[in-house]
Amino acid sequence: MKQQIVFLFFFFVLPLVLCQDSKLKTGDTSCTWTQDGHTYNFHNLIDYDNNYEATDADEKTHWFFNICKGTNYVDAEDCSCCTNRDTTAYTYYYTKNTCKAWGNWSMGNSYQYIDTDAKDIGVMIINQAASGSKSVRYNMFCNDDEEYVLISQYEYDTLPPHVQINIGTVYACKVEPTPTPSPTPDPYFCQTIQSNELYNLAPAKKLYQKTFNGNKYWLHPCDYVVHTSGCDCCTAGVATGWLQRSDGSCQQLGHLDTSTWVPLPEDQADEGVSLEYFVKTSLGHKTRSMKYDFICDPATEGDIDEINELNLIPPRTEITLTTKYACPQDPLNPTIYPSPTVKSSPTSSPTTIGGVKGGYVFLIVFFCGIASFAIGFFVQKYRKGKNDLYENI
Ligand SMILES: *[C@@H]1O[C@H](CO)[C@@H](O)[C@H](O)[C@H]1NC(C)=O
Repeated sequence: MKQQIVFLFFFFVLPLVLCQDSKLKTGDTSCTWTQDGHTYNFHNLIDYDNNYEATDADEKTHWFFNICKGTNYVDAEDCSCCTNRDTTAYTYYYTKNTCKAWGNWSMGNSYQYIDTDAKDIGVMIINQAASGSKSVRYNMFCNDDEEYVLISQYEYDTLPPHVQINIGTVYACKVEPTPTPSPTPDPYFCQTIQSNELYNLAPAKKLYQKTFNGNKYWLHPCDYVVHTSGCDCCTAGVATGWLQRSDGSCQQLGHLDTSTWVPLPEDQADEGVSLEYFVKTSLGHKTRSMKYDFICDPATEGDIDEINELNLIPPRTEITLTTKYACPQDPLNPTIYPSPTVKSSPTSSPTTIGGVKGGYVFLIVFFCGIASFAIGFFVQKYRKGKNDLYENI
């Protein structure tokens, strides 16, 4: 019988007591709150050396408090009764030289939304005193611009009394602000803004089949080379350019997803813009590069003037294409060129949308194009990933 009591004690009573005991101390001491898939982390607000302070001249009080930690040492000259380091907040009545202690860090925190109907307003942190009374409630209001800004602090004569400290902080925001990624243009879009000038190469976006120095080229700026007729070893839809050497071997010249626009070098007298591509292996090594120099000449529709093979590491193909489409334009008032691929019907003559209004319409279209890159890029990446399987570079 005795053994049974001992058994009962160890396996039922003791665990129950321990369990109840730990329930009293379930307050969070990690200074984080995970709710609705987001973890609020107030760790950066813990002051390990000093206290947060505030003065209320009307109430003749001075406040000392900390967040997710007890108060730190207070000089006796400033507050002779702010002595207990468990206490998370003190109100010191400096005319009476008396203190009220609020909260107890050993009890940990509990959390809730300030307003459950408007969850992005912020988070309330509650720190109870051991007796369950004299709590500190920190209303942490989401503020994108501030790490910490004290809004106000009040003592409430509730039963039991409590203090409320209102703080604005970025750590109470649901989506922490991240630096906006600079938009990368859709590689099919074929337009770029460099130094506040717009270059619209979309009308020059077509297949060029050329022979230079015995090398045959199939080139398609801003798209894949799809029509490879005449080439013995090119693959359609893989690269933005192909080279077939006189010995019959073929090489890819660039991958569309590496598209990079660069201004022409400062010392170059011509106006225009450059477009670069790399060939990248599945491990990201660059094995070739190609560069178009689009040179402005208002008098010509445009063609490739020159192609040079450079013995660099990695090898590089440089293509010069002189065209009126490489001439810089005012982004707010661009010239709308008729598309060369879609032959315009006789009734719709190409027009220039003039004035600022047309400019804004154009800018919206332009930035929508940039936005559509996100989808385009990933589809593109997926395609490329598939192509890599068959590739041998
Ligand atoms: C804070 O709570 C702990 C128990 O969790 C207790 O031991 C301690 O005395 C309390 N401190 C104050 C100042 O009440």
